[in-house]
Amino acid sequence: MTTPTKEEIAEAIRNCGSDHAEMFGYPVKEDGLYLQQDVGEYSDFVHFMSQQPPSRLAIEIGVASGGQTKFLRDYYQVDKTIIVDIGLHPNHHHWKRIKPLVKTDIVLEIIDDSHAARVREKLLPYARTIDFAFVDGDHSYKGLKQDMFLMKDLLKPGALCVLHDTHEVPDCARVFEELKKSEDFELVENFVSRFGISVWRYTGKSGSGSTWLNRRFGWGKL
Ligand SMILES: C[S@@+](CC[C@H](N)C(=O)[O-])C[C@H]1O[C@@H](n2cnc3c(N)ncnc32)[C@H](O)[C@@H]1O
Repeated sequence: MTTPTKEEIAEAIRNCGSDHAEMFGYPVKEDGLYLQQDVGEYSDFVHFMSQQPPSRLAIEIGVASGGQTKFLRDYYQVDKTIIVDIGLHPNHHHWKRIKPLVKTDIVLEIIDDSHAARVREKLLPYARTIDFAFVDGDHSYKGLKQDMFLMKDLLKPGALCVLHDTHEVPDCARVFEELKKSEDFELVENFVSRFGISVWRYTGKSGSGSTWLNRRFGWGKL
């Protein structure tokens, strides 16, 4: 497959439709993807991902309609995917329609709170085997840190871990600053024209797993 240009990807994003015309700057389409993405930074990100080696097993935290999950996989090969979403987004009902269109094998779908101990139990069999993560769930400082501590337990060293809204949402920007100081994460790319899509490499250098305080309160160094 020839690599599409950023312009071709941008055009495809607009054609797939957003979640909210005024907020995202391109129209909602009734049978579309309900993307919650800025055209400029998301096309740059998808173009970057289209040039990465395939993922064998990925996790998405916070899928809403699942439009992003589908769109990315049209350009970036992901063999298997784990889905986690609390299921409360007003457009989550589109996931039922979009899910069969996603080019991946969905090996686990958890509609629940990513911070719950019961969710962690279901995910632990995949510990240190996940090579790609897209984290876009709870946008609070505590909630995103809890998700990142979970990622530290699940990701394989060398994995790519993507965070959305690390520019626009102050709590996510705070986590972004902490990640820059972490020995376990290296910033690979930062696509910012509006919300901020940051791409990190999980190094696993510290070799330490998460503690109960990390998981329960989001406390501690990432
Ligand atoms: C901003 S939306 C995700 C948008 C989507 N990634 C996209 O690009 O179109 C955030 C999603 O995270 C989910 N969410 C929020 N808190 C969560 C939690 N604690 N556990 C799991 N999902 C959560 C919401 O239900 C919502 O679907």
